[in-house]
Amino acid sequence: MSRSLRAFLQSSIFKKQIAAVTGIILVLFIIGHLAGNLLIFAGPQALNEYAEKVLELGPFLWSFRIGLLAAFVLHVYFTIRVTQENRAATAGRYAVTNPKGDWPFSRRTMVYTGLLVFFFLFLHLFDFTFADHHGEGSVVMTGDGAMNLGLFGLVWNSFLNPLRSLVYILAVCAVGLHLSHGVQSLFQSLGVTHEHYTPLVQKGSIALGLVVAVGFSLIPIYVFIRHYTIGVGV
Ligand code: HEM
Repeated sequence: MSRSLRAFLQSSIFKKQIAAVTGIILVLFIIGHLAGNLLIFAGPQALNEYAEKVLELGPFLWSFRIGLLAAFVLHVYFTIRVTQENRAATAGRYAVTNPKGDWPFSRRTMVYTGLLVFFFLFLHLFDFTFADHHGEGSVVMTGDGAMNLGLFGLVWNSFLNPLRSLVYILAVCAVGLHLSHGVQSLFQSLGVTHEHYTPLVQKGSIALGLVVAVGFSLIPIYVFIRHYTIGVGV
């Protein structure tokens, strides 16, 4: 390996670019996941058929999952490295000035919202991905008595627990806050800056964060309200 290539691979620019590219993959997944999840509003059949179709992808699904996991691990690793290097570079200067004081809340909390999402994902995968989609946890009381509503029933029953719903709402707000700074930051890391478009990217990034936080939060809120009003309605 040539010396210049080694220097580039060890540079903070390379680490930022890997963090940015893996960030894009994760953002695209979150947007796709939100769109798929909104099928919950269309009822059990729509959500379960969608989940079956995804499962039918077989080896493609597994390649996708491995790619997603790799993107996640690389994103966490390189963002931690960049943060550590930035801290080391600015240590000592804070005694005189505190640049972080001017940072928006979303930027100051990137490490914390990132950590929250990290721990949330374990809970989340055990709740839905690794859980039995057709077991007792999917049985819902309907107008015609107890029915197994598959993945829909599992999601429905999970959100009847107010504590779990609250944890989900806090976690998806953390995801939204993380994206509202993360997306604008990844444009910068990739060197995509422009005096006219950068303010638009900043606004778009905040809008995306809001859509993600509100969109995902609507799901537990919908289940809760519907359970105590008209019920599952199947
Ligand atoms: C109210 C919010 C959410 C709901 C109701 C929800 C629902 C689900 C469901 C039902 C599955 C299992 C799909 C299946 O096995 O067929 C799943 C998987 C998953 N979710 Fe979520 N999700 C939510 C939020 C999130 C968020 C915010 C993230 C990321 C930050 C996320 C990341 C994932 C991942 C990585 C998987 C595994 C995907 C796979 O199996 O390939 N979810 N989610």
